[in-house]
Order: sequence, then structure tokens, then C-alpha cells
Amino acid sequence: MSDKKRILVTSALPYANGPLHLGHLAGAYLTPDLYVRYKRLKEDDVLFICGSDEHGVPITIAAEKEGVSPQDIVDRYHEMNKKVFEEFGITFDYYGRTSSKTHRETSQEFFKTLYDKGFFKKKTEEQLYDPTSDMFLPDRYVKGTCPNCGYEEAYGDQCENCGTSLSPTELKNPKSALSGETPELKKTEHWYMPLGEVQPELEKWIDSRENWKPNVMGQVKSWLNDGLADRAATRDLKWGVPVPLDEAEGKVLYVWFDAPIGYISATKEWAMEKGNSDEWKTYWQDNDTELYHFIGKDNIVFHCIMFPVVLMEHGDYVLPKNVPANEFLNLEGKKLSTSRGWAVWLHEYLEDFEPDLLRYALGVTLPESKDSDFSWKDFQNRVNGELADVLGNFVFRALSFTQKFAGGKIPKLIEPSDLDKETLSAITEQKQKITQAYENFRFKEAINETMQLARIGNRYFTETEPWRTRKSEPLKCGNTLHVSLQITAALALLFEPVLPAKMKTLRAQLGINEGFSWNDINSSILPDDESVKQGEILFTKIEDEEIDHQLQKLKDRAEAADSTPDVPELKENIDFGDFMKLDLRAGKVLTAQKIEKSNKLIKLEVDIGLEQRTIVSGIANDFDAENLPGQKVVVVANLAPKKLMGVESQGMILMAEDPEGNLKFAETDAEAGSPIT
Ligand code: 2FM
Ligand code: ZN
Repeated sequence: MSDKKRILVTSALPYANGPLHLGHLAGAYLTPDLYVRYKRLKEDDVLFICGSDEHGVPITIAAEKEGVSPQDIVDRYHEMNKKVFEEFGITFDYYGRTSSKTHRETSQEFFKTLYDKGFFKKKTEEQLYDPTSDMFLPDRYVKGTCPNCGYEEAYGDQCENCGTSLSPTELKNPKSALSGETPELKKTEHWYMPLGEVQPELEKWIDSRENWKPNVMGQVKSWLNDGLADRAATRDLKWGVPVPLDEAEGKVLYVWFDAPIGYISATKEWAMEKGNSDEWKTYWQDNDTELYHFIGKDNIVFHCIMFPVVLMEHGDYVLPKNVPANEFLNLEGKKLSTSRGWAVWLHEYLEDFEPDLLRYALGVTLPESKDSDFSWKDFQNRVNGELADVLGNFVFRALSFTQKFAGGKIPKLIEPSDLDKETLSAITEQKQKITQAYENFRFKEAINETMQLARIGNRYFTETEPWRTRKSEPLKCGNTLHVSLQITAALALLFEPVLPAKMKTLRAQLGINEGFSWNDINSSILPDDESVKQGEILFTKIEDEEIDHQLQKLKDRAEAADSTPDVPELKENIDFGDFMKLDLRAGKVLTAQKIEKSNKLIKLEVDIGLEQRTIVSGIANDFDAENLPGQKVVVVANLAPKKLMGVESQGMILMAEDPEGNLKFAETDAEAGSPIT
């Protein structure tokens, strides 16, 4: 039997409702990529799965805000996020999406299997319902007065003013966020997972887990101590996976029921793409698989309690061996907040810096066991003081000295000194420490121990002074270069998980081809007398101005978010040609008359210079007709005429809508008929 392990690694599926930021990378994506790259070098059989979480209420809210469909939103961010991950060198074997057909079928099959086994408890309950919009309101769709602090804009799940968790029925004076109407209580049926009933079985499984991080186990134990409550697996929503039961018409699966199943459906799609559609089963249904879920701490309960229960009840699946969750990353000493503009967007980072720099700087400040902080100053220090001054400087010195004083060839080791031997043996010593750290999900330590080897090399190079020995003691100089080059080669391999792009460049300089493995890392990677190339500067230093620029950007963004009223997002760019098709003219209202049968419409006669137009405008809630004559306006003069309430409207008057929803005229002082371009 081969001693190769079969390892299935998943990263939390990020919601496809916005771009990714630093907190995402630090939480659930960088660490599994480090792990997976390390395991691949160890030549284990590794599969790395992720994808977009495309259901859930935040996505429908984002869609409504923009006036587009939820599918439009997820299509946009799925592509964007997939691309950013690739650019950061996150090497998923497959990046799926939960709006796919495979996913719908897989999660429905899960629900149906559990249903047929009699797992779910059906309950009838009263929930807030908006008769105008004809839908039950998810918690976030209900706003009202907080019973705790009196804040009038509290949401149905939480008051953002005082932080209290709420349920929608606790709000005073609740209003539907969709229609503004007062919702009513209406009966609805849902299927619940009776987690309390399976708690003993779950606890047995939890107690059999080894080597779980204390931050993860602590949270799990605290949920278990409180006793698990029933949790609904269905929702009254239009967007999601339809519940596969005739009696559940119009209901969908709860997003946290279907999302983790996304790992399985993505694996199925990966197998289909590979042309062996059953291969997913080896990873999910063969007990030899080691399954690891990498997540952020807010996902612990779902991955350590809810999903394992679903997998257990289904019966055909492996359960996670470990769930190495990270804590949260703060930014410049403050909590990350996208709505407050306190975030570093990954696609923006890439406009200014290389991905490997962040992989390293974030890698050594990961929130592994407690929350940690990212600061731009620390980023600069790590890049300048560690990547450039230690690693970059060492490998550059080794390579350029070899070029200049050894004809570009690796000198033989001849009568090595104790220091030469000790230094060489540091390769295997460090490798062992690094291996141990990776095996135990201690990524910061793995990276620091890797950098430690570069420090050892750097110190050795300085101490042995090859610039001095090259004339008086050429053998000594040759030994220094030999040892330094072997360390450089080891670094090129040991640093691969952290700095994949940079180490690829370095390996090319050393002539190490791609097929190497972790087992090849020892003190004689490079053969004597082989040629190496001239060293290149791997890392350039970051200037203070570049850091000031980032800090300023952050500050500006936060200030803008503070003062930005709730305005809709900008629409997509259009061609100049499309814009030029519009014929906008300055105009002046001559007469105005309310259209009686309508609440909103006013009929206007407008002078547009060349002629007079009849225009029907929906502005009666904001203006009295009698005040309008004389009003200067901007008219879209070449809009196809349209009948409104029996009157032909021959154009449109431009209006602005302020954050409170009031209409204001777009005005111009220009003479009627003046083209506006
Ligand atoms: O917290 C989140 O961003 C979720 N979208 C994570 C889902 S993980 C898995 F269950 F799909
Ligand atoms: Zn409150």
C-alpha cells in the first residue's frame, strides 16, 4: 500500500455579493493554500475545493439595491472573486458556484434523503409577512425601533446602534424594508433540524477529534454546553434551492443548509470536468480521505456542528478530521468594516504591489489563535527588513559571488570547516521544524522557521567573508559559496508555499526544474560544478511614500463612507457614442396641470426653443402644478413618445432623487432650446 495520503481541503465559499478583502484572505484562503502547496510538495494526493456561495439574503438585498436580479449580482462577483484568487496564487483545483445545476440537485438529494429518514421536524409558526410585496420577510428585511435603545432603524436580526441581537417580532413599530408597510403575522411551515436530539451522537464524534485548535474546540464546547436548539433548514424566499417537496411550494433551502453541500457539488463538477464523473466519491465517501475545512471563526458552528450532523444523518460521507479556523484580522488597530470603508480590497492591492509580498506579510501575522492586526507600516517592515534585507540579500549575494568569483559554477565542498558543516545541517533541521509546523496548522511558525534558514545563511555568509578569502584561501571561499548555494536552493523549495511566484524565478536561476518534491530538500540539492545564473534582485524596498499613499487611501475611504448618504451604486460605463445619441435640451415650463385620475402624474407644456412639447411627468408627490410655470428644466427631446393615462408624452424631464427619495429638478439657466452636451 502506498503511504500517500488522500487529502480533501475546502475553503469557505465566499458570498458572491461583493469583492474580496484582506480579511477574507487571512481568514480562509491563504492558510489552506499554504497547506495544500506543502502537501502537494510532499506528493500526497490533495484536492482543494472552493467556490461562490450564491444564495442568502444579503445577495437579494444587494440585487434590490441595484435594481438588478440576484443572478446578475452573483455572476459579477463570482467571476471577479475567482480571478482575484488566481492572481494571488490560491491554487483551487475547482472553483464552483452554488447556483449551478449540480449543486441544486446535490443539495436537494441531501434534503430528500434526510427527509425520507424522518430527520426533520415540521413546525408551523407565525412570521412577519408583507402583504404588499406578497412575501414573508427575512430578518434583514424588517426594520423598526430597537426595544433596547430606541434606535429607529434597527434590523430584524440586530440593532446596529447598540449591538443587541433581535428577532423581528421584538421590534417596535416594524416596517417592511421592501414596501415600507407594516408587516402582519402569518402562519408558515418549516422543516427543522432537531440538533438537540442528535447532540449525544455529535458529542461522541467531537470528543474523538484530535489536535483541534483550542479556539475552535472552545467555541464548539460552548455551543454544546448551552444545548443545541432546533434549526430551520428551509426559508420563505424566492432566491435559493427549491425545497424538493410538493408541500413546500415556494420555499427554498436555508443558505447554511445548502452552502457546505457546495463543497460536494463542486467536487462532482471537478470530477466531471476531468472525465471521470465518479471520482468525487473517492474523496467524499472513502474513509481513507482526510477532510479539512478551512474557515473563519464566524463559520465554526456551521462546520463543526450543523454540517457534520447533516453528513452523519445522510450516512454516506466522510466527516472532517480537522477544522482549523482562524480568528479575525483587524486593520490598523480597528475592526474591518466594508460598510465603513475600513478594508483593503484585494483587487486594489494588486494595482500597487505583488501578490507574494502580501502572502508573506499576512502569513506572518495570521490570526491563528487570536485576532491579529494588519498595518501598512508592518507590511513595509516585513517586505524591506525580511524579504529584501534577509532573503533577497542573501540569495543575491550567493548568486552574484558565484558568478563573479567561481565562473558561475557550484564549487565543490572541500575539507569543510565545522561552521560549514553546521550551517549545511541547518537545512535539514529547519526543514524538520517547518514540516512539524505545517502538519500542525501552525503557519506563522512554518513561515518564520523558513525565514530563519535565510537568516542563518545570511549570517554565515557575512561571517565567512568570501570577499576576503577569495584570494588568500580560495578553497574556503568555494566552501562558503557551496554552502550558501545549497541553502539558497533549499529556500527556493521551502518557500514555495509562501512565495510561489518569487521562488519560481529563483529556481529558474538555480536551474532547479519543476518536478522536485519536499523529499528532495536536503543539503545537496545542487550538483557540484553545475552552472547557476546571475542573481536578480527578488525584492525591491517599499518607500515611505507608497505606504503613506495606502494610509491616505484608507482614511479617505473611511471619511467618504462616513459622509456618503445612501446613494445607489454607479451604473456600468457606456460608450461615448451611446451618450451622443441623447438629445438633451434646455427648456422652460409654460403650463402645468395635474392629471386627475392619477396620483403622481402632471401634464406639462414645455418650451424647448424650436417647438412646444407636451410632457407627462411623475412628480405630483413632490410639486404642486400651479408652482411649475417658469421652472427651468432639462428635457430628453428625442425619447420616443409614449402614452400615459391617455396623454401622449413627447419627451422626459430630468430629475434627481435625493437620499430621502425627494425629487429635484435638474436645472439650467441656458435659453430654451440650447443643446446640452
Ligand atoms: O461566511 C461566509 O462568507 C459564507 N458564505 C461561508 C460559507 S462556507 C460553506 F459552508 F459554504
Ligand atoms: Zn439598540
